[in-house]
Amino acid sequence: MGKKMYDVVVVDAVRTAFGRAGEKGIFWNTRSEDLCVPLLQALIKRNSPVEPGLVEDVVWGVTNQMKEQGGTIGRMISMLAGWGWDVPGCSVDRMCASGLTAVGFAVALIASGMNDCLVAGGVEHMGHLPMGFMRDPHPRAAEVMGDDSAFNMGQTAENIHDRFPEFTKEMADAYAVHCQARAAKAIEAGKMKSMIIPVESRDQDGGKILIDTDQAPRPSTTMEGLATLKTPFRENGRVTPGNASGLNDGASAVLLMEADKAWDMGLNPVMRFVSSAVAAVDPRVMGIAPVPATEKALKKAGLSMADIDIVEINEAFAVQAMYCLDRLGVQWDDPRVNPWGGALAFGHPLAASGPRLVAFMAAQFRENPQAKYGLCTMCVGRGQGYTIIWENLTTQK
Ligand SMILES: CC(C)(COP(=O)(O)OP(=O)(O)OC[C@H]1O[C@@H](n2cnc3c(N)ncnc32)[C@H](O)[C@@H]1OP(=O)(O)O)[C@@H](O)C(=O)NCCC(=O)NCCS
Repeated sequence: MGKKMYDVVVVDAVRTAFGRAGEKGIFWNTRSEDLCVPLLQALIKRNSPVEPGLVEDVVWGVTNQMKEQGGTIGRMISMLAGWGWDVPGCSVDRMCASGLTAVGFAVALIASGMNDCLVAGGVEHMGHLPMGFMRDPHPRAAEVMGDDSAFNMGQTAENIHDRFPEFTKEMADAYAVHCQARAAKAIEAGKMKSMIIPVESRDQDGGKILIDTDQAPRPSTTMEGLATLKTPFRENGRVTPGNASGLNDGASAVLLMEADKAWDMGLNPVMRFVSSAVAAVDPRVMGIAPVPATEKALKKAGLSMADIDIVEINEAFAVQAMYCLDRLGVQWDDPRVNPWGGALAFGHPLAASGPRLVAFMAAQFRENPQAKYGLCTMCVGRGQGYTIIWENLTTQK
């Protein structure tokens, strides 16, 4: 194969509403596969003349690959979507960045010329498959990761507060209030409508319902309310349910194509892949890893943060998002950062979150043709960070 690299574009990106995990969650009676199927169907319906037969692989992020999420869910969902037997699929795990890695792998396959039309995405039903469910860590895992705290994401956030005490609980709470307010404003303005694909489910009495509204946002969040919350990860700690992302159920999906193929088919791609990078750090402070990942991705692109018009950072915890933004030279309340709110409000159904960032980016690029570059970044348990930079194509019409 020659060295030619092909341009990769995002044609469309969608997601389900995100629910709270558990019996009171909107998706308690919905299986993981059934969160994914409507997304595949919607990508085909919304992007005629793309047909299932054009999709060369379904690259699907999922962290807990067992029970309903096991058995190569990426393959199962295309058959369940009615795409027949001819569309391959696989499952990808990089914990929280499983879905963003799926997007990155799809980009690489298209850029190399191996494929020219792929669907990438991710799902996590944290209600049915709780974090760490049935995991069997190696006896030396804690030793090689530094200590036991590396296993517990909330404790890794407490560790960031310890190491960088300039980020206080009050600052984390202020960030959370700000995030919830932005999310509330975006929801009120109908920004979620074009990206959320309704999921059919059953209510308590077995009646059919359509779920199309995020369950996790708490628009009435205040500093006073947050100050009263417990710190579940450490006695007298700083991380609370209010300044941490929650436990959630959801799925997100992205349709990616080789650029010329998309244009030739008369499609209207929204953004072009520019660069990406993955980086690894001390697992005990995993939340800081978006910094080296972003620095690498910017360097590869020949860009700096000043060139980035939209930053979609997955807020696993307020403190890690604040740390990362600060070290990247961006104010935490900069209007470029998570303009429609982030995971503190919408939730963080692990593998679904990366493609959720891509869906937010795509929707914002469509609304804002002046924005040229956007950056999606997230931290990952065990100490990793993943960043992808995109260029807005809606500016070039
Ligand atoms: C923090 C965590 C333990 C909280 O779990 P939980 O107790 O089930 O969370 P809840 O949503 O029930 O919230 C707990 C309480 O805080 C309150 N609360 C949560 N957010 C709030 C807000 N923004 N404002 C006011 N109160 C809030 C809830 O109302 C609830 O109060 P109640 O006990 O009186 O009902 C859980 O969300 C968690 O583990 N998050 C991190 C997930 C993670 O590690 N992901 C991977 C990242 S890498």
